[in-house]
Amino acid sequence: MSNLIPAIKVKNLSFYYGISKVIEGISLDIYQNQVTAIIGPSGCGKSTFIKTLNRISELEATVKVEGQVEFFGQNIYDPGINLNRLRRKIGMVFQKPNPFPMSIYENVAYGMKIAGRYRKIELDEIVESALKGAALWNEVKDKLNTSALGLSGGQQQRLCIARALAVKPKVLLMDEPCSALDPIATMKVEELLHSLRSELTIAIVTHNMQQATRVSDFTAFFSTDESRIGQMVEFGDTTQIFRNPLDNRTRDYVSGRFG
Ligand SMILES: Nc1ncnc2c1ncn2[C@@H]1O[C@H](COP(=O)(O)OP(=O)(O)OP(=O)(O)O)[C@@H](O)[C@H]1O
Ligand SMILES: [Mg+2]
Repeated sequence: MSNLIPAIKVKNLSFYYGISKVIEGISLDIYQNQVTAIIGPSGCGKSTFIKTLNRISELEATVKVEGQVEFFGQNIYDPGINLNRLRRKIGMVFQKPNPFPMSIYENVAYGMKIAGRYRKIELDEIVESALKGAALWNEVKDKLNTSALGLSGGQQQRLCIARALAVKPKVLLMDEPCSALDPIATMKVEELLHSLRSELTIAIVTHNMQQATRVSDFTAFFSTDESRIGQMVEFGDTTQIFRNPLDNRTRDYVSGRFG
């Protein structure tokens, strides 16, 4: 435990859409090379929370943030921060696979192409290694130039993971990445999370308790109070959260009595 290094340190974070506060006072460390699951009832602010970690939340609405989010020691809410670079370092995969209407190859190469000039041979290598990293290479290597929209849902989600991996992020944020997938595709993504952990840090929102216990090292349980504002109730080792929660609200939730 003592050699864990926080990749992201969240300090007393509150978040508002317009004037409406949706999460309050969240402090949490997301450790490097570990998988952290974020669980909790619908509307408690899980998606909002992970979207504050690479400031993608600002694309949707007028928002206000209080507190700090440090990424390896730097506050990502500092005025001088380069948002494109930040979002390359902290990538995101969403609930619904969202491949671009382009070829499989172009989808994966996309981020590299906008980031700078690469030779074809370099791009080929990056695309291959990202597709291998996302456990998709064998299924698509003979049809890289066909449309990504022709892939199955599970393949599309792994393609989105490959697209995120291609720019070599340090952290991958995943918002219910398996909720649109069948059990076999889900299993493939879960296996992938295990192997990716040696190279990067993962924060995953999931509604599936079994999934949280299978894939994560740490778990944060969020809930809302009477005023419907999301808060973190408990954080700990995943085994402890599920077997021996300290807070009754966590116990009720993980035992399926609530949410
Ligand atoms: N763009 C937005 N503008 C205004 N309010 C929003 C916006 N997105 C979310 N909210 C509100 O913020 C609160 C938290 O929503 P959020 O989507 O983060 O919850 P969640 O825990 O991810 O829920 P679910 O499990 O259903 O995905 C909700 O009350 C929601 O209505
Ligand atoms: Mg959500």
